[in-house]
Amino acid sequence: MDSKSIHGMWSSRLAFILAAAGSAVGLGNIWRFPYLASDNGGGAFVLVYLACIALVGLPIMLAEILIGRQGRMSPINTLLKLSREGGHSPAWSVIGWIGTISLVLILSFYSVVGGWTLYYAALYLMQLLGGDPITDPVATFTGLLASPGQLVIWHSVFMILTVGVVAMGVEKGLERMVRFMMPTLLVLLLVLAGYGISTGHFGDAVSFLFKPDFSKITGSTLLSALGQAFFSLSLGLTCIMAYGAYLPRDVSIPRVSVSVVFADTGVALLAGLAIFPIVIAFGLNPEGGGPGLIFTSLPNAFNAMSWGIPYGLAFFVLLAVAAWTSSISMLEPPTAMLVERSELKRRVAAPLIGVGVWVIGLVTVFSLNIWSSVRVAGRDLQGAIEYLASDIMLPVGGLLTAVFTGWFLSTRISREQMPDMPDWLFTLWLWALRVVAPILVLIVLGMKLSEA
Ligand code: TRP
Repeated sequence: MDSKSIHGMWSSRLAFILAAAGSAVGLGNIWRFPYLASDNGGGAFVLVYLACIALVGLPIMLAEILIGRQGRMSPINTLLKLSREGGHSPAWSVIGWIGTISLVLILSFYSVVGGWTLYYAALYLMQLLGGDPITDPVATFTGLLASPGQLVIWHSVFMILTVGVVAMGVEKGLERMVRFMMPTLLVLLLVLAGYGISTGHFGDAVSFLFKPDFSKITGSTLLSALGQAFFSLSLGLTCIMAYGAYLPRDVSIPRVSVSVVFADTGVALLAGLAIFPIVIAFGLNPEGGGPGLIFTSLPNAFNAMSWGIPYGLAFFVLLAVAAWTSSISMLEPPTAMLVERSELKRRVAAPLIGVGVWVIGLVTVFSLNIWSSVRVAGRDLQGAIEYLASDIMLPVGGLLTAVFTGWFLSTRISREQMPDMPDWLFTLWLWALRVVAPILVLIVLGMKLSEA
């Protein structure tokens, strides 16, 4: 194993935890998790979600970090190197390709939604400075989606912010930014959850999120819960693998993984506890909120409450920061790959990939308005991209990562990478990768493909 990556190194254990938690904590936690819980029966969904995190998410997180640290290159080259060294087919590098291509696709629509958060942050900032209030939140939201011009502007701003950080490199860009952003994010979240507690509907939110109604657990609960577990932890698409490549040799992989998983799950639950009391307090139904949940229901609440405007500003800044630290992690693997395969410097490679992502993002922009009637396999264009990348390629990537690490990578390597893990736990981890994760993912994939 090389002791250093050519792309740079995290300066400490904490730096890695912040970066990986920054990747994990994103729109998936604050935007997607609450509305999935809302659409899938609350507590029942949360319970299945937590089980998926423990049984599949955590083991694959260890696997990705250790593969990354063993190879020390961009995911594609890392997998090429490890499969060659182990005498296996170089075709395993397909995991890297699936990941890199899917990340580009996911980032393309993630950036558009990231743009929404910037737009809302700007709206609240303007209100704070005396601008017009949002009197009809549904009209504001649908108005935004109907305006290609606005969407393109904010998508562009978001991409420029993302490219800027990645272009500056691992230490000077990514690490410096997460060191500053992650504490900010935590403070904002605690303030917001504090308000949620004070609304008097906190108890209702707790019972909505934590009282499982077992009759609501269906096949589709498992489907969305496992998908969300992967998505929220940034797993399956080599994001965490890329970050693992910059992890110093002496840091314990199991420990950092547990920290990242706790941070991510904690933020998702806290976000739920911050959002649902407000939704309930304003007489809105917590069930069936859909993707517009926070954009259409929360502004009503912000209008009605005292200090609502600064509070709304804090909320959307939080969301934008969370999205930003995730989007940089999606741009990193393709950028590292391009740097390795060309003579290009990172300063050039990151903007090049960024332009590609930006152009693909236009498909999402237009699928919200002028192309909204275009259908691919029954979905609109954005839906089709999301389906392919996050519903199909992501679980396939996760499955292959588990199988490669569990059955093909020599256990000597895994053991050397995780010397602090007790033997029984190591064996448990190995079988989680060999059997539990593949079976669960295959079930979910089978269900996905049969419903399609
Ligand atoms: N985990 C991030 C979120 O919750 C999104 C994300 C970043 C992601 N990197 C990823 C999702 C890799 C899937 C794969 O918003």
